[in-house]
Amino acid sequence: MSKYDVAVIGSGPGGYVAAIRCAQLGMKTAIIEKYSTLGGTCLNVGCIPSKALLDSSHHYHDAVKHFEEHGIEIPGEVKVNLEKMMERKSSVVSQTCDGVKFLMDKNKIDVFEGVGSFKDKTHINIEKNDGETETIEAAKTIIATGSKPANLPFIELDKERVITSTEALKLKEIPKHMVVIGGGVIGLELGQVYRRLGAEVTVVEFLDRIIPTMDAALSKELQKVLKKQGVKFHTSTKVKSVERKGDEIIIKADDKKDKEIEIKADYCLVSVGRKPFTDGLNADGAGVKVDDKGRIEVNEHLQTNVDNIYAIGDVVKGAMLAHKAEEEGSFVAEIISGQKPHIDYNLIPGVVYTWPEVASVGKTEEQLKEDGVKYKEGKFPMRALGRSRASGDTDGFVKILADEKTDEVLGVHMIGARTADLIAEAVVAMEYRASAEDIARMSHAHPTYAEAVKEAALAATDNRALHV
Ligand code: FAD
Ligand code: NAI
Repeated sequence: MSKYDVAVIGSGPGGYVAAIRCAQLGMKTAIIEKYSTLGGTCLNVGCIPSKALLDSSHHYHDAVKHFEEHGIEIPGEVKVNLEKMMERKSSVVSQTCDGVKFLMDKNKIDVFEGVGSFKDKTHINIEKNDGETETIEAAKTIIATGSKPANLPFIELDKERVITSTEALKLKEIPKHMVVIGGGVIGLELGQVYRRLGAEVTVVEFLDRIIPTMDAALSKELQKVLKKQGVKFHTSTKVKSVERKGDEIIIKADDKKDKEIEIKADYCLVSVGRKPFTDGLNADGAGVKVDDKGRIEVNEHLQTNVDNIYAIGDVVKGAMLAHKAEEEGSFVAEIISGQKPHIDYNLIPGVVYTWPEVASVGKTEEQLKEDGVKYKEGKFPMRALGRSRASGDTDGFVKILADEKTDEVLGVHMIGARTADLIAEAVVAMEYRASAEDIARMSHAHPTYAEAVKEAALAATDNRALHV
């Protein structure tokens, strides 16, 4: 029987990063993945394919809607070749997954293909696809089994027309009308992909605003911009039934006035969140506790109730984000090797990769109000930037919230071109506990979108923005 210092179950961004870091720290490491490709949800059916389709559909949208204003004329009609677009997405995915396999080999990590299940706290059975079972011994185990799409109890997902993100990433035709249930990250990113490709898109959201966990000003601006792009919204609307009749889907819901509405569509994307995944793991076999939400219970060291078993990523509490899972992967490897690492969960940024992009870190205005913290706000509109006018990306703003007395930056919320990248500056600043004035006094290259961060910081510091 093969013996390891550490076995990692699941090869998503949490699992494969944990395995690399364990190997770097000199531990003999194995990784177990039930699918034939490594990379988990993020690489196979999440972050990477969704971004590939967002980028492709963005090019098409620009060609149809914006080239002309730039003085670019295309003789004839611009057309979408969906099959080719999907093929490109698949090749981006396979290159990225192959990259993880390369990293496993480079770091001398043994890869086992099969379902990992606990025999006891130091032995894991690996049930392979050919029916064979192999058992390995591991002094420590890291559970990184991720998550799966959640559903509403009354919806039958046929995975053909009533679908989750996994199917929406590989449709064979452009929907005529796609109803998106849930105005969160997945619904808006994939909704925008199909809207750009020509589908009518209607978003039905239970709460009174889209992206409800982000700062309310971002929800308002994003909804305004998406509406301009033709996406329809029903907020404060409760879906009651989703029925398929042939190729038609009939969605019934109660709107904000409690009036029943009926929407007909040819596709319905259900994007109401994700749930932790532990099927087949036999957590019980090792005595590992799972909480009432199906998450593996962990302490502040991400250690389960069983002392040699840890858990990270989507399968434990906290934001279901690839970079959160990665941070936890490194963290746990370092804890196991006796180091004292640290993660500041308040400084894990959140990003929505629509265009304009939405990005956020730290406290929202709503949270500061709820916590009774006195704060000041500095806001700067993207349209006032030379760079935004040059590219034509004038929607959005940067908003900085700073402590009223100390000027420490408490939250940064932005929507606009490339804010997914701009948010890194805010994370660095907040990690070093910068004041708004610290950011305001740093030189930002001109002309860039990043100037909006400096201007918002100036606005937060005695209302000193220069270009509004
Ligand atoms: P996962 O990536 O889910 O990996 C878990 C792996 O474990 C899977 O490969 C699974 O097959 C394997 N596994 C499970 N049980 C077993 C077992 N018993 N034995 C062996 N293997 C097992 N996050 C971002 O930060 N940015 C984004 O842009 C982004 N976009 C997304 C888009 C979509 C459409 C979706 C669905 C998600 C997106 N996410 C994004 C979220 C991100 O994918 C997850 O947060 C991330 O993948 C979690 O990583 P993980 O390692 O915890 O688990
Ligand atoms: P989400 O939690 O982002 O959004 C779900 C939305 O559905 C919420 O707005 C919620 O209020 C709404 N909702 C819940 N029940 C509903 C109901 N009965 N009727 C109507 N609306 C309802 O979840 P989503 O979009 O499914 O994504 C799952 C996870 O994947 C998220 O936690 C996210 O972190 C991650 N992800 C991250 C991305 C990124 O970082 N860019 C991209 C895609 C996914």
